Amino acid sequence: MAKTKILIVFGTRPEAIKMAPVVKEFQKYPDEFETKVCVTAQHREMLDQVLEFFEIEPGFDLDLMKPNQNLYSLTSSLIENFSKVVESYKPDYVYVHGDTTTTFATSLCAFYSGAKVCHVEAGLRTWNKKAPFPEEINRQLTGRVADIHFAPTQQAKENLLKENIDENSVFVTGNTVIDALHLCLDKLENYTTDELESVKKLVYPDKKLILVTGHRRENFGEGFIQICEALKEIAQHENVQVIYPVHLNPNVQKPVYEILGGIDNVSLIEPLSYEVFVWLMNQSYLIITDSGGIQEEAPSLGKPVLLMREVSERPEAIESGTILVGSKKEVILNETLSLLKDPDRYQKLSSIKNPFGDGKAVTRIIETQKALED
Ligand code: UD1
Ligand code: UDP
Repeated sequence: MAKTKILIVFGTRPEAIKMAPVVKEFQKYPDEFETKVCVTAQHREMLDQVLEFFEIEPGFDLDLMKPNQNLYSLTSSLIENFSKVVESYKPDYVYVHGDTTTTFATSLCAFYSGAKVCHVEAGLRTWNKKAPFPEEINRQLTGRVADIHFAPTQQAKENLLKENIDENSVFVTGNTVIDALHLCLDKLENYTTDELESVKKLVYPDKKLILVTGHRRENFGEGFIQICEALKEIAQHENVQVIYPVHLNPNVQKPVYEILGGIDNVSLIEPLSYEVFVWLMNQSYLIITDSGGIQEEAPSLGKPVLLMREVSERPEAIESGTILVGSKKEVILNETLSLLKDPDRYQKLSSIKNPFGDGKAVTRIIETQKALED
């Protein structure tokens, strides 16, 4: 019997982290599936860090990233280049992840080619076209195109049903980010690299570590200025240190280095490899971020999160204790000080159960795929 051809596509750091366990699981069944990976390389260095850690060799690398790329040229070059891959390789199923421009453009091409589209991390919604921008629309459009929807939570499934997606095509799996985190924590035992050793040297054992990341388009401009001003003030508090691996997007780099460069107790560093970032999350007291993935990982490590967004497509995180702070300096400052000074509140927020999964999402995904073959 001919093997089913599975093409797994991703382009950015978070997609790579969350799809790595899917790739690894499919590769366990070479008699049933011919599995290939296509990276669009919407990200380059930040993607390669993940490929290296999870030892993934792409069959196709579109190498598309351009400095300070815009949505128009990125979308059109994704379609132009990925269409050639689907037309020549002719996969039976194309797996895409989440809400990036890679996700939407490649799922559209897969649909045009006649392949079935499987959407991992389907069904998250704010129903606000402008937040997250353009991700909310990327995810909604991918949902329209997809044939199979792997929803991480029951709420995500319900969102899809509200949009009249056929219930028989929706499977609740948990989020594969937890599978990735478990793979990473296993690998971190007895692990060392020069990068890890140099990051260890940045951490002061006598200070509370506040770990920061940020990259959302909604925060570009005034948002990032306010965020950096808040961090500048937070870093002046005794017993606090801020470590901030700065996203490579120039719209982030510029304000962050201009406002926080050379400030005492603030370490601005390059984006970290996944494993070193996970190690650093484990050392932190508090995480301030606008990231999707970090909100999902932090509860597994018992770390409270201040989320620099106005709305969230992950209501489960907010219900479990993640605090929405937007990008206003005073709110970020006040909530941070509260968590530094109120041990009871801190304790409550550090001991929540992770609502995003049990680390077995990929087993459910592959079982579903096998059942499609029967
Ligand atoms: C993208 C996704 C966003 C996702 C985020 C994760 C879109 C529209 N945006 O945002 O949904 O949450 O990735 O981080 O799909 N750059 C580098 N090297 C890298 C990565 C980025 O230099 O490895 C710089 C380049 O100048 C690039 C710019 O960052 O042009 C922007 O990258 P892009 O993928 O367009 O946007 P992100 O802000 O990273
Ligand atoms: N991450 C990483 N190195 C860093 C910062 C973050 O590997 O320096 C990981 C983090 O653990 C999470 C993912 O990258 O799994 C989040 O990516 P990002 O915030 O860029 O995107 P989002 O999740 O918001 O789409």
